Amino acid sequence: MEKLAVLGCGVVGSGVVELFEKNKELIQKRCGKNLEMAYILDLRDFPERPYANKLVKDIQIILDDPEVSVVAECMGGIEPAFTFVKSCLEAGKSVATSNKELVAAKGDILLKTAKEHNCNFFFEASVGGAIPIIRPLHKCLAANAFSAIAGILNGTTNFILNKMIKENMDFASALALAQEKGYAEKDPTADIEGHDACRKICILSSLAFGKHVYPESVYTKGISDVELKDTKFCGQLGYAIKLIARVQKLENGKILPTVMPMAVEEDNLLSQVNGVYNAVMVRGDGVGKTMFYGRGAGKLPTASAVLGDMIEEVQLDHTIPSQTWENVNSTDFIEDFSAFSAKRYFRTTSADVQTLNDVFGGIEEKTISTEEEETIFITSEAFNAQQLDQAVKALAQKQIQVLAQYPVLVS
Ligand code: HSE
Repeated sequence: MEKLAVLGCGVVGSGVVELFEKNKELIQKRCGKNLEMAYILDLRDFPERPYANKLVKDIQIILDDPEVSVVAECMGGIEPAFTFVKSCLEAGKSVATSNKELVAAKGDILLKTAKEHNCNFFFEASVGGAIPIIRPLHKCLAANAFSAIAGILNGTTNFILNKMIKENMDFASALALAQEKGYAEKDPTADIEGHDACRKICILSSLAFGKHVYPESVYTKGISDVELKDTKFCGQLGYAIKLIARVQKLENGKILPTVMPMAVEEDNLLSQVNGVYNAVMVRGDGVGKTMFYGRGAGKLPTASAVLGDMIEEVQLDHTIPSQTWENVNSTDFIEDFSAFSAKRYFRTTSADVQTLNDVFGGIEEKTISTEEEETIFITSEAFNAQQLDQAVKALAQKQIQVLAQYPVLVS
């Protein structure tokens, strides 16, 4: 008999218990072992829940039980999650977490602690909810040198943008609906300002490129100032505005992780990812381009990923599959955002095509002139920050103002 424990009995933690009890027989068969969900740690009381007898309030009870071999951390936030997870690893108990904030901020330390104590720190559920992406990067695609990862990693913002694009709903109403449906938090800042997607691209970047990427090193812009007219006009040009979390390996060997709204061409699969779904595109030198798609959040989808990690730990019989990345003090492997270069979608005050061609060295054939005397177009060439600045100044000299601009994601 092996004992399991869950830290945190919120949405994900209770989902882990529920899915485990529902599928206990088949999970045991797949593991070849008898398993018991022995403890659920939470400071709150849940007298009505069927598993109320498993609730404990003191982490020491779990740490002191030698039969507990795998712990799920579903508390969220950095503390006390970090202290609890570190204590479990130091006690030789493997941990599976859904907590992206914890992995993005402390993954290097926790991976090192796990290694030092012959146990595992798993985090499949921390990116993309139910979508298998951590294990494929670490295992199935391990033969590849990666050149890019780009994804829709936040369901709440994708839901909001989708409502704006498909139903002409303004940002505030779409956000209110996301909150009503329980997708967005009461304080939706981490979702709409891109912090949640930033933590997730940090984790994928660290795993793909082998060095810890901290959230502070990632240029991050959310969707709170995306205007309805841009989702509409972008659509008329054949693009969809999506919050894209992305990391590119540049020719100089550095990586450039970013999170920002981008105009995605309609024939790029990422533009077709709707509602709260997530998707991740990975490009490697062996595999070419590959896509992962599924539910990025929610009780049972996230619980499915947490339990997958716990089951693997039991199946591995607690050997160590060496999932790791380096703890580094320097960020010189990360390129500055000023080097970011892309074609751009623009909305400007009324402008003639000849002037735009002169300033941008060419624009795509289809331009739109609106009733409000604005001009919408996509440049043919890519621009970095400095070139963009020069182009905006050149337009200003001709009395043309830039009202909105989004970089274009080229697949
Ligand atoms: N708030 C997150 C989202 C939950 O909307 O995707 C999953 O990390």
